[in-house]
Amino acid sequence: MQFCLILSFISLARALVLPGPSGPHPVSMVIESLTDKGRPDPYAPSSSPHPRRVMTSLFLPINSTAVRSEIRTVPYMTPLVAADYGLLATSVGLPNSTFASFEVNTTYVLAGRRCSNTRDRSNSNIQSKKIPLVIFSPGFGQSRLLYGIMARSMASEGYAVVTIDHPYDASIVEFPDGSFVRNANISTDDDAALEQVIKVRSADVSFVIDQLKDAAVFRRAYDQHKTAIDFDRIVMYGHSLGGATAATAMLSDPRILGGVDLDGRFFNPVLETGLDRPFLLLGRQDHSAQDPTWAALYEKLRGARVEMSVAGTVHSSFTDYPFIVDALKLPKDAAEQVAGSVSGQRMDTVVKSVLAAFCEFVFGSKAAPELLKPGNGPVPELTVVQADLRK
Ligand SMILES: *[C@@H]1O[C@H](CO)[C@@H](O)[C@H](O)[C@H]1NC(C)=O
Ligand SMILES: *[C@@H]1O[C@H](CO)[C@@H](O)[C@H](O)[C@H]1NC(C)=O
Ligand SMILES: *[C@@H]1O[C@H](CO)[C@@H](O)[C@H](O)[C@H]1NC(C)=O
Ligand SMILES: *[C@@H]1O[C@H](CO)[C@@H](O)[C@H](O)[C@H]1NC(C)=O
Repeated sequence: MQFCLILSFISLARALVLPGPSGPHPVSMVIESLTDKGRPDPYAPSSSPHPRRVMTSLFLPINSTAVRSEIRTVPYMTPLVAADYGLLATSVGLPNSTFASFEVNTTYVLAGRRCSNTRDRSNSNIQSKKIPLVIFSPGFGQSRLLYGIMARSMASEGYAVVTIDHPYDASIVEFPDGSFVRNANISTDDDAALEQVIKVRSADVSFVIDQLKDAAVFRRAYDQHKTAIDFDRIVMYGHSLGGATAATAMLSDPRILGGVDLDGRFFNPVLETGLDRPFLLLGRQDHSAQDPTWAALYEKLRGARVEMSVAGTVHSSFTDYPFIVDALKLPKDAAEQVAGSVSGQRMDTVVKSVLAAFCEFVFGSKAAPELLKPGNGPVPELTVVQADLRK
């Protein structure tokens, strides 16, 4: 409790702009709420039934030689989500306005072509090299917005990345029309209840893939960005229960070619059935010692499989928290308690390197990238615990 006193001196009078994406491409953000008209929401109160509705953020890398764009600074979180995380911040002595004060720079695509060059005009599809799709699902109770920095950074490497909010397990989901959904009373001690949550989340994931493919709103966005998504190259990752969601979504949706779990435990049915496509487990150093489901799942994986650990991390290192504690300049003890000892910038490199190497492997490179092989790789924080890179 000692650090509470120290923290209460931290002033947040000014907005803090969190760091921009570290990859080569600027990234834009398309925020959409999507309603699955054919699917009643199983968690809707019986007094007001409604179809399942999810929130998504789609991060698209921008080809800045092909489109005109400008940078705008926007809030990191929507107001109610920021207030919710702000309440958590008060428990470590920070003001409740902490999350409301964060901003991010995002790139907006402007109407009109970048070049009036006649050669360019004659071939309007010149830039349409299709990019792969990476899907992300958050931890239980968490907002997709808490992973926006990480997702945007992956997009800046040339991937379309979509993050999904799952209403009723997220503490709060805020929709663009001002409506919001608070969490239902779901017990985290009850595996059957969590398995049901994962099942609903997996259906959300398949629905989002369908929408990204077909909805007019996304087609307009691709057109405006002069980009195209390759729906034959889809990988999914998730944090905590989102990792279990990735595994279960792979079981039910063959379009997802590979999955990555960030420090989350697994549930049935995947623990019983296993998976026949590539799967990677990336966690804190002692994860598998504390969670028997890791060894149990690893044994059942019939496709390529890799288990890796990251020294100096805790469960919440695999969110945007490392960036957040860096931005707040928290004292070392407090920072480590919240988000481990790896900085935001290093965590960004670690997670992105693993995701990109895994995508490269899943999408067809014959030789497995060095990073996924046992031994001392190029990222010092990473250890390959075990790997079986069969194709
Ligand atoms: C955000 O954008 C502003 C204006 O373009 C720029 O001055 C600032 O350095 C950027 N901040 C970050 C963290 O990228
Ligand atoms: C970006 O656009 C330019 C001009 O349209 C094109 O030559 C280039 O190949 C594109 N780059 C990517 C990565 O698609
Ligand atoms: C912080 O708390 C005060 C009162 O305790 C409240 O008026 C304010 O709206 C809260 N701010 C946020 C961002 O939650
Ligand atoms: C939540 O559900 C549990 C049983 O799973 C029950 O004991 C508890 O009273 C419920 N809480 C609320 C606020 O409904």
